[in-house]
Amino acid sequence: MSSVTPAALPARKPMNLHRLREMHSQGEKITMLTCYESSMTRVMDDAGVDCILIGDSLGMVVQGQPSTVPVTLDEIAYHTRCVVRGNRNVWIVSDLPFGSYQESREQALRSSVALMQAGAHMVKLEGGGWTAETVHFLTERGIPVCAHLGLTPQSVHALGGYRIQGRDPAGAETLRRHAKELAQAGAAMAVLELMPSDVAADVQADNPGMITIGIGAGQRTAGQVLVMHDMLHITRGKLPRFVRNFMAEGGSIEDAIRRFVLSVKDGSFPDEAIHGY
Ligand code: KIV
Repeated sequence: MSSVTPAALPARKPMNLHRLREMHSQGEKITMLTCYESSMTRVMDDAGVDCILIGDSLGMVVQGQPSTVPVTLDEIAYHTRCVVRGNRNVWIVSDLPFGSYQESREQALRSSVALMQAGAHMVKLEGGGWTAETVHFLTERGIPVCAHLGLTPQSVHALGGYRIQGRDPAGAETLRRHAKELAQAGAAMAVLELMPSDVAADVQADNPGMITIGIGAGQRTAGQVLVMHDMLHITRGKLPRFVRNFMAEGGSIEDAIRRFVLSVKDGSFPDEAIHGY
């Protein structure tokens, strides 16, 4: 059993976008986990996690829904408030759920305001192409935005399932183009989910100012995110190849989260040979 001591991580100050950009430009990997409640936020904060995502994955791992599609804005706002009460130092990103931003830029603004007033520091929305205009509208109005490209779970029915995106040259080119448009529109961060490592690396190289956070997107993104229930091995059934069970080495939940942080920071997670596509 390996215990990970607090001394292994530097002292903490509250995270902000300036500091995240500094870490990115200095090549320090950025860590993000999903979280939906206050007590676990304290554990993640103590374990040195840089960013928490109140993801609409809560539909599946908390509510037991078959997908993220049923999750509502009120539910994300509620879980954001829960996380914020437990937080001291972590950068808080809240998902704009399905149906809360697609109608118009104004709808996206209203939904983002609700999440920022619940305590989020940044909102995340899925997809490329038409979303660039919305991202520009939000960032111009002082709302930091995280884009989300590749596998976009809110579109699972349109995509025909949870499949790797950008495997063929045309798909890869579309991802690269969408990423460039989103970066130009002002997206400070982008989650890149389930795509070939080379495509994710291209997206980061093409847009050096945008902080890419990978999940199933290889080692060459600026940071990594996992769903908490997956990396703590709470999720039942077959997990995607990109997930590592950080509880496998034993110890406490806080130890497992520290191992995630240290493994991302030292580049040993993800391992291209095991977790990459
Ligand atoms: O909702 C979520 O948890 C996410 C992550 C998979 C990145 O979007």
